[in-house]
Amino acid sequence: MPATVVVGTQWGDEGKGKLTDLLARDMDMVVRYQGGHNAGHRIVVNGEAFALQLVPSGVLYPHIIPVIGNGVVIDPAVLLAELDSLIAKGVDVSRLLVSGNAHLIMPYHQELDRLTERFLGKNALGTTKRGIGPAYADKSSRVGLRVQDLLDPKIFREKLDVVLHEKNLILTKIYNRPAISAQAIAEQYLDEFALRLAPMIGDTVGVVHGALDQGQRILLEGAQATFLDLDHGTYPFVTSSNPVAGGACTGSGLGPRDITGIVGIAKAYITRVGAGPFPTELDGDLAELLVERGHEFGTNTGRRRRVGWFDAVMARQAARLNSLTEMALTKLDVLDTLEEISVCVGYEANGVHYDYPPYHQSVLHDVKPVFEVLPGWKTDITASTKYDQLPSAAKDYVRFLEETTGVTISVVGVGPGREQFVRPT
Ligand code: GDP
Ligand code: IMO
Ligand code: MG
Repeated sequence: MPATVVVGTQWGDEGKGKLTDLLARDMDMVVRYQGGHNAGHRIVVNGEAFALQLVPSGVLYPHIIPVIGNGVVIDPAVLLAELDSLIAKGVDVSRLLVSGNAHLIMPYHQELDRLTERFLGKNALGTTKRGIGPAYADKSSRVGLRVQDLLDPKIFREKLDVVLHEKNLILTKIYNRPAISAQAIAEQYLDEFALRLAPMIGDTVGVVHGALDQGQRILLEGAQATFLDLDHGTYPFVTSSNPVAGGACTGSGLGPRDITGIVGIAKAYITRVGAGPFPTELDGDLAELLVERGHEFGTNTGRRRRVGWFDAVMARQAARLNSLTEMALTKLDVLDTLEEISVCVGYEANGVHYDYPPYHQSVLHDVKPVFEVLPGWKTDITASTKYDQLPSAAKDYVRFLEETTGVTISVVGVGPGREQFVRPT
């Protein structure tokens, strides 16, 4: 049976949590395949909000097996706190499985993330300071500690001693910071975290393939997004993993032929948190309006998101990078009050027209968006339950985005609530 990927097509916060929750109704398993607690996926059910960072967004359904795949980096303290807050809200988290091959975020990763950002000064990336980059760097350098190491105190301690020796030299000699105690980390990770996490740790590659063999349906939930991808995003203003659909294979252990559907998520406009190029960025009153109506503040970090018009150039690139089979458009309701709505249909730089993003960063930083202006609908659409109930200008906007991106839009979000969506016919 098939596996379906949910992938962000912009710079994150497109509504992957809401879409995953929506699609999970018809799934058996939801697997997070990359990222860590830099993600914030918000789901609203009957007015109650859940902000998930590490736990897959299908967890709210009793029939779903939530799996944290090998591609994720895990801060055990954050995972346990998230589980506790879900339990406090009455969510059964006992089915959660965590890959033994996922890497651990350690206290020195967070410290180094903060220090590197501070030392970069005006060139800072604006990371979430959660230790994501340093943890993936250690994974690539083959000095990372993995979740399975929690189950073997001797190996955990040996690896920790080796890596901490180097980290402490960096912390004390380069950054003039105090050394971190191996004993303190070992006590916390092995005594406190390992004890609680042990029953959840396992061979998730075997589990996902077992599920497919039994005809079960798997949803692969991406964090971050296409243009935060380490390879395909606006480097260096990216995260340190591969959110693109290809990352769903490496981050879960499924093969490319196991995946049959790839749903790209796009906001009806676009946002970005942190530094980096943003061709359609808005400022002034219009930006304020979108930030306010869209509540564009980070789900976890609370940072104000930068906002801009929908960028079809990026959407076309996302369509091919991810082999999108369809797209979900979220937050159409945020545009409800606008007289006119612009869509970026191309870029221009140095007399050259671009339908896809130029590969060279210097050109991308200089592009001028080419806009088409569409009429707004000036109607509250948040109560719509059927696509036909949308005003014709709203349907025209959706149709225009389909035409200019070449991707069919299968779901349109009209509010944050679980039930607030319509399906174009
Ligand atoms: P994610 O990181 O991609 O899961 O997205 P976030 O949860 O960080 O940010 C998306 C925000 O938009 C959340 O606050 C959602 O509750 C909200 N949201 C999702 N879909 C819609 C929609 O169609 N309309 C409105 N108004 N809000 C939405
Ligand atoms: P979700 O899954 C939006 C951004 C950070 C920063 C860059 C690198 O909720 O869409 P990192 O801490 O990953 O090293 O930061 O990536 N970023 C996100 N922006 N949504 C996210 O996740 C993000 N995760 C990371 O703001 O610019
Ligand atoms: Mg988010």
